[in-house]
Amino acid sequence: MASSVQDSLVTVRDVEGLRQRVRSWKKSGLSVALVPTMGALHHGHVVLMEQAHAMADRVIATIFVNPSQFGPHEDFSAYPRQEARDFEILDKAGVHVLFAPTAESMYPPGFTTSVKLAGLTDVLCGPLRPGHFNGVATVVTKLLLQAQPDIALFGEKDFQQLVVIQRVAADLNIPVDIIGVATVREHDGLAMSSRNAYLTPDERAQAPALYCAIRTAAGKIHQGEDPKGATEEAKASILAAGFRSIDYVDTRQAKTLALLKRGESLGRVFAAAHLGRARLIDNVEISENV
Ligand code: PAJ
Repeated sequence: MASSVQDSLVTVRDVEGLRQRVRSWKKSGLSVALVPTMGALHHGHVVLMEQAHAMADRVIATIFVNPSQFGPHEDFSAYPRQEARDFEILDKAGVHVLFAPTAESMYPPGFTTSVKLAGLTDVLCGPLRPGHFNGVATVVTKLLLQAQPDIALFGEKDFQQLVVIQRVAADLNIPVDIIGVATVREHDGLAMSSRNAYLTPDERAQAPALYCAIRTAAGKIHQGEDPKGATEEAKASILAAGFRSIDYVDTRQAKTLALLKRGESLGRVFAAAHLGRARLIDNVEISENV
């Protein structure tokens, strides 16, 4: 039974407080959606909240900058933190509960369990960010078990992450539907990301070249071009646009993340590249719409 009462947003920091709320919602027959984030919210996150709102009676957003998914030389300490501003954004988006646990409560002394995958994490960002997906899988598993939502929403912008989480939920029989939400883009095509804040104005003007290049590659592959040739052309145009280096441009199947072979055109083009201080990732479907 859906409720039309719009409670204002409350912040909860402990698991027991979260569980009490979810229990009472479920007792009243209300469905629950979870949207995990690391904060520094932008319009892409808001679209996830709106979609959650459309699909469930109650929406929980989480903000937790998860230390275990950052490598030793990555941007954990520099990662933007702005909880007061994020609170306003979530409130406006009609979110019911902000779950913002402390690092100590998520990883108390003696914490030793982790969720580790094989295969799916050996490709794309996996080898370049050792431990990253295990950190993501572990924290998302914890959040799913803490909140016990009916559905949880994740963006296709981080497509490998979405596939990893779908695999974890299936493999561990976590009773939740994992929903993928299409990438939300700026007007010039750049995928919205909290890390876009690292770009200087000049770099920001160069950044859409990443999307442009993988879109072009996807179009060519859809028309029958060899994936290898199309991704090489994409790499050249990304570097020509001013990117410092490329981690990968790859064509892969959407479910297994296996490399596309010559003649196969059902899948996605994935890219990761460095521009100034930022490492940008993006991906597009190979379809007639690109
Ligand atoms: P974060 O980068 O904050 O992203 C939170 C969610 O928003 C993720 O599901 C991400 O894919 C989605 N998202 C970000 N930018 C988007 C865009 N432009 N369009 C659509 N969705 C977008 O991803 C994480 O946090 C963390 O790894 C997390 C899953 C919270 C685990 O710590």
